[in-house]
Amino acid sequence: MPVFRLDKYLADAGAGTRSQVKSYIKRGLVTVNDSTNVTPDLKINPDMDIISCQGTIIHLEEYEYYLLYKPMGYVSATKDNVHPTVLSLVDSQRKDLFPVGRLDRDTEGLLLITNDGALAHRLLSPKKHVDKTYYAVVEGLVTDEDVSLFAKGVPVGDEDLDTALPARLSILDTNPEENLSYINVTIQEGKFHQVKRMFQAVGKKVIFLRRISFGTLALPSDMNPGDCQRLTETELAALRDC
Ligand code: URA
Repeated sequence: MPVFRLDKYLADAGAGTRSQVKSYIKRGLVTVNDSTNVTPDLKINPDMDIISCQGTIIHLEEYEYYLLYKPMGYVSATKDNVHPTVLSLVDSQRKDLFPVGRLDRDTEGLLLITNDGALAHRLLSPKKHVDKTYYAVVEGLVTDEDVSLFAKGVPVGDEDLDTALPARLSILDTNPEENLSYINVTIQEGKFHQVKRMFQAVGKKVIFLRRISFGTLALPSDMNPGDCQRLTETELAALRDC
């Protein structure tokens, strides 16, 4: 692990805000290798030093990984002045977490949250073609012709200049009386409003969208919107390999 400033390490590990941990340090409540003779800017190496705050050993993992079931209404950003962010649903005090990619505010479903920039970069790389599967309710009757068009790649650019990569569309059900279709679609890119624009390109409208998988991760059936859980070691190993 890299070397940290003591106050940043304690704050990132959730021991308190930066000013609270400075106050703990001043009051002698923080020890580094049993010494209270420490300052906020002391450089510590978490692999070698034992740090405690108010009598509790503070351990900061280098990386954290969370699977969040994003509810509608939340923005996939680290900060927003108007709407709540997905990070407000993650039970961690770390300041360096971010969502891996974006789901629209009105989209729900699986979102990976981490501070592992290298893994995020790999998973989002356009060259990597990581599968993302969505369940959608679509206004209009989706046809076998749409399935073939999606398989070839539909135009999603403003002037039909931009074509989506081939996508796997499966029709789960259609309801002609209500003019609705229920579908799953697997795409390999993450263009802005991609699924909505793909259906727009075939004259239909997505009225509900949920991401149900991302790479090797699938949204567990026992999770509800707003739930957040740590990835298991097995899930993480599979994700790293995908
Ligand atoms: N495609 C969309 O249109 N919206 C999302 O949030 C994700 C994929």
